[in-house]
Amino acid sequence: MSESLDLAAFPADFLWGTATSAYQIEGAVADDGRAPSIWDTFSHTPGTIDNGDHGDVACDHYHRWPEDVALMKRLGTGAYRMSVAWPRVLPAGHGTVNRPGLDFYDRLTDALLEAGITPNVTLYHWDLPQVLQDRGGWTVRDTAEHFAAYASLVAGRLGDRVTHWATLNEPLCSAWIGHLEGRMAPGLTDLTAAVNAAYHLLLAHGLGTQAIRAAAPGAQVGLVTNHSTVEAASTRPEDVAAAARMDGHTNRWWLDPVYGRGFPTDMRELYGVELPERPGDLETIAVPLDWHGLNYYFPATVTDDPEGPVPHAREVRLPDVPRTGMDWQIDADGLETLLLRLTEEYGVRTLYVTENGSAFPDTVAPDGSVHDPGRTHYLEQHLGACARAVRKGVPLAGYYAWSLLDNFEWAYGYDKRFGLVHVDYATQTRTIKTSGLRYAEIIRAHRQTHT
Ligand code: IFM
Repeated sequence: MSESLDLAAFPADFLWGTATSAYQIEGAVADDGRAPSIWDTFSHTPGTIDNGDHGDVACDHYHRWPEDVALMKRLGTGAYRMSVAWPRVLPAGHGTVNRPGLDFYDRLTDALLEAGITPNVTLYHWDLPQVLQDRGGWTVRDTAEHFAAYASLVAGRLGDRVTHWATLNEPLCSAWIGHLEGRMAPGLTDLTAAVNAAYHLLLAHGLGTQAIRAAAPGAQVGLVTNHSTVEAASTRPEDVAAAARMDGHTNRWWLDPVYGRGFPTDMRELYGVELPERPGDLETIAVPLDWHGLNYYFPATVTDDPEGPVPHAREVRLPDVPRTGMDWQIDADGLETLLLRLTEEYGVRTLYVTENGSAFPDTVAPDGSVHDPGRTHYLEQHLGACARAVRKGVPLAGYYAWSLLDNFEWAYGYDKRFGLVHVDYATQTRTIKTSGLRYAEIIRAHRQTHT
């Protein structure tokens, strides 16, 4: 099914991009002085990842990046959201710089710019150097300070060419999934650790923003957070209250402090964990941003679950709704709602959709092509939601499809494919899927609406 899109809604300079992250695509985990990250440790811990997969080779992007930049060029994308692997440039987490690691990102930046593609660099997409984890990781304040030094180093090297910077990707996942649910690195299930990690991640964001700006004047710095719309499963007061708690856990906890409202009182009471606050921290966390990045995949419908883990709200699986191969409900309206909320409730003045996409079980046809109507439709529906949001006044400046390539989908390993480009992991052959071709067509058509 092919949808007609209101492409004229998007401004002429709208950035059409794709996104990836270092650990999910680079491989080469021991090359040129890179040290292990918490994801190397976690993925090599038996029982953590489906099929025992890990990121040792992934898409071998560390060696194949020229081919990957060429793919972006073929798609016609004008922007690329990538992340830098902290343990590649600072193997000890701080201190001595690993020049070859930094050189890799330097070459990649030059190649992107040469291809007419604007890099948008995320400094932390979950791959904390293991040595820092051994000293407490995000549960301790030192890690936030080391992050700022790392941010300064990378911005100092690339900041003469990279203008778009993000401090963190999805701190919710690092804190809640990594420290409370244990399904991501470092694999803890400890509420006190999780709340401390959440705090230090946001502090790192504030300190990192200041460090980037000091090292690269003119940098456009943002934060990337993931959100879901939250509905109560019924009108029962208990369910309505559960939805408010889930909204606090998923949305308000991550946005209120960043936009100057402090940590939400109801959630502080619910967690019952004292925050490691020091004078001035809240102002640092609320440092004004140049843009906000929204990652959106699915909505949530919840019911009260007094015996369950915080926030004592359990997701309900709605019957008869469309779902992706992740079993995530498809609801493009949720994207429009969240874009409007960020604009109206939090006053964000420049927004990007920094990730949006879908996994489906793709098959390669005998002629080598990959026909993926589910992903194509998901893309069209969500771009439709973006267009509606723009028409309603949302200052949306770009959209990054997740993902350029099929890649290492964390605890799900390689089985879940999000790419616009198929990767045959045995041969590392890349094939643009039908969704990628459709994205290229949309980008071309948008350009034509403005010529
Ligand atoms: O693959 C991830 C990405 O690393 C962060 N956002 C969600 C994606 C899909 O699960």
